[in-house]
Amino acid sequence: MAMSPRHLPRRPRRASFLPAVFLLLGAPLWAQSLRALATVRGVAVGTAVNYFHFVHDPAYTALLAREYNQVEPENAMKWAALHPAPQTYDFAQADAIVAFALNHQQRVRGHNLLWHSHNPAWLTDGHFTPTQLAQILQDHITTVVSHFAGRVYAWDVVNEAFQEGPSGKLRPSIWNDEPGIGRPGTGFIEQALRWAHAVDPHALLFYNDFGIEAINPKSDAVYAMVRDFKRRGVPLDGLGLQMHVDTDGHPNLSSLARNIARFTALGVQVQITEMDVRLRVSRAGVASARDLNTQARIYHDISAVCLKDPGCTALQTWGFTDASSWIPRFYPGYGAALPFDADLRPKPAYGALANALGGPPARGLKLAMVAGPPSDSPRQRHRRQP
Ligand code: G3I
Repeated sequence: MAMSPRHLPRRPRRASFLPAVFLLLGAPLWAQSLRALATVRGVAVGTAVNYFHFVHDPAYTALLAREYNQVEPENAMKWAALHPAPQTYDFAQADAIVAFALNHQQRVRGHNLLWHSHNPAWLTDGHFTPTQLAQILQDHITTVVSHFAGRVYAWDVVNEAFQEGPSGKLRPSIWNDEPGIGRPGTGFIEQALRWAHAVDPHALLFYNDFGIEAINPKSDAVYAMVRDFKRRGVPLDGLGLQMHVDTDGHPNLSSLARNIARFTALGVQVQITEMDVRLRVSRAGVASARDLNTQARIYHDISAVCLKDPGCTALQTWGFTDASSWIPRFYPGYGAALPFDADLRPKPAYGALANALGGPPARGLKLAMVAGPPSDSPRQRHRRQP
């Protein structure tokens, strides 16, 4: 069901989490904004953008501009949104978000060009042959990447191509093997990267997935693919670790650090692309104070691991307010996963992120890998990682 404006969050009245924020920070770092702290540090701090809230809630956009130097449309660049009919592209929603970002000197990540999910019915029910699908995919990538060239600095070219769990296998999908585009193994991923690179050689191209944050059979399989791609000169610049976690299931910090290090050693940068920490909530959507503090610690610790590695260049959450999170819909009984509550008030997690961003700097200058600094002209071309 579509939300109506009356379902929008109420305006912030008071910062009820302030004591916890100060406790975590020891100093009022939050007054500086995550964005200011990240800019000083030379990293991107980003969020997914929910189009409904973006359009209807000025307080949402004000916070978006103040707190973040990177944005990523949550759904507006997916196939079903951008390509609703075979010969029809609709860029209106995505263009509005991109224009806002560039007006506010924010970088834009594009999400995504190839996924097994959120595809339009004309595509999934079209009974296309591999040759036809290859042509359709190439046309889509070419049209979309050229439309946003110079405005989107990084693309999740391929999203979630590996199976969940320990199999290490590729996920069956229309692009892989049902019937696929006629490129066996990881060939469809390689082909998508090559098509995207041919259109915008300056954009950073990512593989993005969940469950690959720590060292495990799935991240081993992705590692083997990335190593193979880098050895053969396939244009892959980065790895997105989604980081959808909860208080019981989050990556071991040492394993996360070693995982990031082994990927950056291959010559790709790593970004945390979709972090949220879901909590059990009451029917009213309220989490316990204890869980909110545990959540804050998780946000802090995972962010600190990323920030410590010069090759981990962005820290992004999957939305910023509990008013717009995907979690309650997909995980009944859970919610409260983001750094701001549904009334746009900062939670302990916000203070924890500020604390991590204000912590000791990483070795090396991360901006050299991300692109120009956030204050740069947004139209400046972005440098690829050597
Ligand atoms: O906009 C329509 C609305 O008009 C309609 O009434 C309603 C009925 O179901 O659907 C609405 O669309 C929903 C859309 O979110 C916007 O709310 C889709 O059904 C729903 O499937 C879609 O879910 C998104 C999901 O990806 C699938 O695309 C979530 O918002 C989004 O947060 C989630 O994001 C993914 C990343 O892309 C990849 N990684 C995992 C992450 C979480 O699942």
